[in-house]
Amino acid sequence: MAKLDANTPQAIQLRDYTPPAFLIDKVDLTFELDETQTRVISRLVLHRNPAHPDARAALCLDGRELELESVKLDGEVLDGSRYALDAESLTIAAMPDNAILEIVTLIHPETNTSLNGLYRSGANFYSQCEAEGFRKITYYLDRPDVMARFTTTVVADKQKWPVLLSNGNKVGEGQLDKSRHWVKWVDPFKKPAYLFALVAGKLSKLADKYTTGSGREVALEIFVEPADLDKCDHAMESVKKSMRWDEQRYGLEYDLDTYMIVAVGDFNMGAMENKGLNIFNTKYVLARPDTATDVDFDGIEAVIAHEYFHNWTGNRVTCRDWFQLSLKEGLTVFRDQEFSADMGSASVQRIEAVRTLRTHQFAEDAGPMAHPVRPESYIEINNFYTVTIYEKGAEVVRMYQTLLGREGFRRGMDLYFKRHDGQAVTCDDFRAAMADANGYDFSQFARWYSQAGTPVLSVRARYDASAQTYTLEVAQSCPATPGQSEKLPFHIPLALGLVGPDGADLPLQLAGENEAQGTQRVLSVKEASQTFTFVNVPVEPVPSLLRNFSAPVKLDFPYSRAQLVHLLAHDSDAFCRWEASQTLMLEDLQDLIDAARQGQPLALKDDFVAAMRQVLANEALDPALVALMLTLPAETYLADQQAEIDPDAIRAGRDAMRLGLARALRSELKASYLRLQDDSAYRFEAEAVARRSLKNVCLGYLTELDEPALLELAEQQYAKANNMTDAQAALAGLVNWAEGDAVLDAFAKKWAHEALVMDKWFTLQALSRRLGNVQQIKALMQHPAFAITNPNKVRSLIGAFVHNNLAGFHAADGSGYSFIADTILTIDKLNPQVAARLAGSFNRWKKMEAGRRAAMQAQLERLAAQVGLSRDVYEIVSKNLQ
Ligand code: PHE
Ligand code: ZN
Repeated sequence: MAKLDANTPQAIQLRDYTPPAFLIDKVDLTFELDETQTRVISRLVLHRNPAHPDARAALCLDGRELELESVKLDGEVLDGSRYALDAESLTIAAMPDNAILEIVTLIHPETNTSLNGLYRSGANFYSQCEAEGFRKITYYLDRPDVMARFTTTVVADKQKWPVLLSNGNKVGEGQLDKSRHWVKWVDPFKKPAYLFALVAGKLSKLADKYTTGSGREVALEIFVEPADLDKCDHAMESVKKSMRWDEQRYGLEYDLDTYMIVAVGDFNMGAMENKGLNIFNTKYVLARPDTATDVDFDGIEAVIAHEYFHNWTGNRVTCRDWFQLSLKEGLTVFRDQEFSADMGSASVQRIEAVRTLRTHQFAEDAGPMAHPVRPESYIEINNFYTVTIYEKGAEVVRMYQTLLGREGFRRGMDLYFKRHDGQAVTCDDFRAAMADANGYDFSQFARWYSQAGTPVLSVRARYDASAQTYTLEVAQSCPATPGQSEKLPFHIPLALGLVGPDGADLPLQLAGENEAQGTQRVLSVKEASQTFTFVNVPVEPVPSLLRNFSAPVKLDFPYSRAQLVHLLAHDSDAFCRWEASQTLMLEDLQDLIDAARQGQPLALKDDFVAAMRQVLANEALDPALVALMLTLPAETYLADQQAEIDPDAIRAGRDAMRLGLARALRSELKASYLRLQDDSAYRFEAEAVARRSLKNVCLGYLTELDEPALLELAEQQYAKANNMTDAQAALAGLVNWAEGDAVLDAFAKKWAHEALVMDKWFTLQALSRRLGNVQQIKALMQHPAFAITNPNKVRSLIGAFVHNNLAGFHAADGSGYSFIADTILTIDKLNPQVAARLAGSFNRWKKMEAGRRAAMQAQLERLAAQVGLSRDVYEIVSKNLQ
């Protein structure tokens, strides 16, 4: 364990929240950009906050890595005796109640590799301020409950930085001297500093227009490097669709004259919702059919929608403090999921969201970093941009809608905006708006925000043929998580139907009701255990439980295999059909894993193979759904189902199922593959995407078989593909065989200058059975297209390997662990946020089999003993060792 001393990072607690001592009404910023330093001149109009308990409190401004040039208070230059300066703040003790502060600082974006604050990427400047990056630009009250009106003037050499952008509306521009020009921006909306943005550089622009429902015209502008201008059309279409959708679904219009998006290749996250000037990772903007896959097109549409939707849920109404992060993120993810459901196939979208939640969030909830949707403490807020805050947070928002219905949810949203527009608020404020708008009691529901862990919902059923009743005994529990040993019952919406022997849903009438009320309903489970009795049930049904995944819980129901096959074939709920196939699959996978561990032969069960054969043969099913049913759960998800993780057994069991299915269904897979061929031009439309997804799942199985004729199918597909979806899928199948090497080389030659395409090339190798090993990863880190300072590169090669290649990373010799510890230490010096994400690869260590557990512990201890570890990495490592 790291020693506790003055340098040990301290946790910040929700219970310590106090309102700021001062509020800032107006901020005037001037940036003088240059190659070797940037001068920031800030003029703040402040007043004392009457809500603060101490009426004489000092003004303590946040600031990091700043060179202070001067401070003026109400026009008077302050000498060093009038303020106190340390590594993280500038404090002025004697402050009048109203004041004007003028602060000049020097900063160094050109050496800023953290990509947090103002930084350079290529020759251009970009900013990233969420969560606490603004304090690396100037001294400020860098907290979201301080909302101010910003004016920004940017001065720079006109040749080098012709485009100068900031938030709001451009109100002036001109030439300063022979070489330098300036642009002035005014943002009419008050905002927290985390939504500030600045961009400067040589950028090309794609321009378009949008007319809002009330007839206002909005200029839409996407700025990219000149070479990428031909890859912005899909992003622009996605902006317009998002704007229309938010008007139709929530009555929300855009509120500025211009909506700008800038794409940058060096970016820590997916994208950022800065007011009027969103900054995006290139990954979520750039797409052309030959460079981007269906998954990429889909991701761009979703992330564009997400950032656009933040304009209301995040910007107009923001968070009081960072503990409330899910207030904006959970809600905005829910909104982008609903948007995506409306743009494509709702059930496919839902199943994919559940897969993500289960694979990543359930794992987080079961590990050392488990935290509630509203955490109670953190060491480094950047570590809390998690699947729990985002994806579980979205499930929590979805449950309001499941309980209230879509109209009731809309009433709650309307009240939320009516009450809180222009404010910084809490998750409780959101919950109160939902409750008050509908007269609904959400008091117990609050536990979804405060209790971590994935609840288990156990259901047992009893059919009484003579009384014609069907009784469900429902019990809930939730495992202990760090700092929370006991859990109280949650308010769980349980959506269900009862499927009759003919496959049709039965009418549902609860005891005490006069008549049946539909064939699907949502039960409110609130007790630790509870009984629901349905009456007038003429035959024994198969229960279809947790329809559309109505709550983020683990369902435990003792389905027989015959019942699962029945649901798989008939359930009217697409999610439950998929779920039935997954449950069958998981059962058999577990048997295979156990057999592998005991050195026994690995064989598939006939009824499972028959069920999969039927799924594949069912041409009435959406091909995308068939593809999902045939897709195996990730190795990491399988690992999370084990009492003790043996990565080799998981790899062997999973591979045996893929190979077994490929052998057993060889002719059906090939027939489907051939039937789904499509030579027409690429279109990103649900039907075409669905066909490609099934076609490529079939190809994936076929290339498991070591048959030259089948590998040739993949080679042909690669050679004639008119889109990246097909090219990448073909390469993914080939890369496990020696035949893949030539194709990998050709791919790298062709795409050497497309950074995002090279990311795919790195990932394909990192995940490959044949190539995904430490030696190969190290070799690829020397490839000219790799850069340790670029987060996309780190994620696509190293991140993919340690997070998604279970057997590769967890090689029995421990080489993966020393490699990643070394890499974390290197990257921590450059970019702590990225390093901390890699440190998450240790989160499963306590569940590994003994040899690997010891090897991982040794590396964790080695990391913990390092002097000068960032807070980011320190938090992950120390929580792992607790
Ligand atoms: N707020 C961003 C989003 O959810 C994510 C982000 C966080 C980006 C922190 C950058 C830094 O869209
Ligand atoms: Zn977001």
